[in-house]
Amino acid sequence: MTSTQRTASLAIPGGRFLIVGGASLVGSTTADLLLAQGAAEVVILDNFSFGARETIAHLEGNPRVRIETADITRLPQLLRAIRNVDGVIHLAAMMTISMDRDPEVGLEVNIDGVRNVIAACCANGVKKLVFASSNAVYGYGPGVAGELVETTPFHSAGAPPAAVLYGASKIIGEQLCRDAFRRYGLDYVILRYSTVYGERQHYRAANALYIIETHDRLKQGLAPRVLGDGSETKHFVYVGDVARANALALAAPASDVAVNLSGPAPVTTLELVNLVAEVAGIPIAPEHVAPEPGKVRLTTGGAFRIAHEEAERVIGWKPEVTMREGIRRLIAWREGSKALAAE
Ligand SMILES: NC(=O)c1ccc[n+]([C@@H]2O[C@H](COP(=O)([O-])OP(=O)(O)OC[C@H]3O[C@@H](n4cnc5c(N)ncnc54)[C@H](O)[C@@H]3O)[C@@H](O)[C@H]2O)c1
Repeated sequence: MTSTQRTASLAIPGGRFLIVGGASLVGSTTADLLLAQGAAEVVILDNFSFGARETIAHLEGNPRVRIETADITRLPQLLRAIRNVDGVIHLAAMMTISMDRDPEVGLEVNIDGVRNVIAACCANGVKKLVFASSNAVYGYGPGVAGELVETTPFHSAGAPPAAVLYGASKIIGEQLCRDAFRRYGLDYVILRYSTVYGERQHYRAANALYIIETHDRLKQGLAPRVLGDGSETKHFVYVGDVARANALALAAPASDVAVNLSGPAPVTTLELVNLVAEVAGIPIAPEHVAPEPGKVRLTTGGAFRIAHEEAERVIGWKPEVTMREGIRRLIAWREGSKALAAE
């Protein structure tokens, strides 16, 4: 390569990285990984609106970690924090449950917030942005079935408004990245996570509730609940695999591209609930119940799989952790530490 050719590849060892919304499930694990891979500095920016100080408590005092309290809806605060970093991973967002509670703030964070992060990246010569998108860009409701690939369109008919607003806000975030690449040459990789689970699991992701609410009930000696016949498909990805993808997306020469991240295989909700009971060693048979009124549910139209093969081609990533192993790690963390309180 000649010196005039641009590369979107960043070296993690010795690099400086900012994780926006870093006091999160994904952010804390990604920070740990970047530090383990030799990053010179990891800046964790968060407004702590989800009260997640304990998520990054283990990083406080680390000389290679800087913690910045800032709100992404306030551009001046971002401009102050983004100085002198090579790469940015943008995670701060409100997911479906939070969007259901407060759509105005949800849209402000997920749309204006992304605009501000992009503006701050461009103003500060950031070399690469990794944007956390979601399989919510394929939507929910009866239209979602089969193999979901990166070109699968958005389905909204029959889905709850908050899920549609969340998915649509991620689509807008993705398009803002594409626009910034074309206008300003900002290199980016979009990672469309499927439901993330693992150590430091919270109660904010609707589908991950199938794991932690099951575990909560089992520990209380109660039968876990399965909605309907439990044949509904879900596809999860382990948080350590997501952190590895974030690092690979920074390091890969790839730019101007979006790829799916998903675990080795989908599961049905019945299989999942039985797996949690088996791994927890509390063999209580589930009870089949009707959906609780007022609780957001993310239903789909039939069996589906979120295809992750493109991620291997583009950033060299494939999932390594099976659901059995990931659930074992999540339960071990919950048993051995203070699980984060339900909000
Ligand atoms: N968790 C999942 O199952 C899942 C699935 C698909 C996509 N994603 C996406 O991955 C990303 C990370 O998910 P997570 O579960 O680790 O998130 P999380 O809910 O644990 O954390 C989000 C973080 O953003 C921060 N934040 C919220 N509003 C902010 C603002 N205005 N300014 C600064 N910080 C703010 C919160 O305090 C929190 O620490 C999100 O963008 C989410 O949409 C998550």
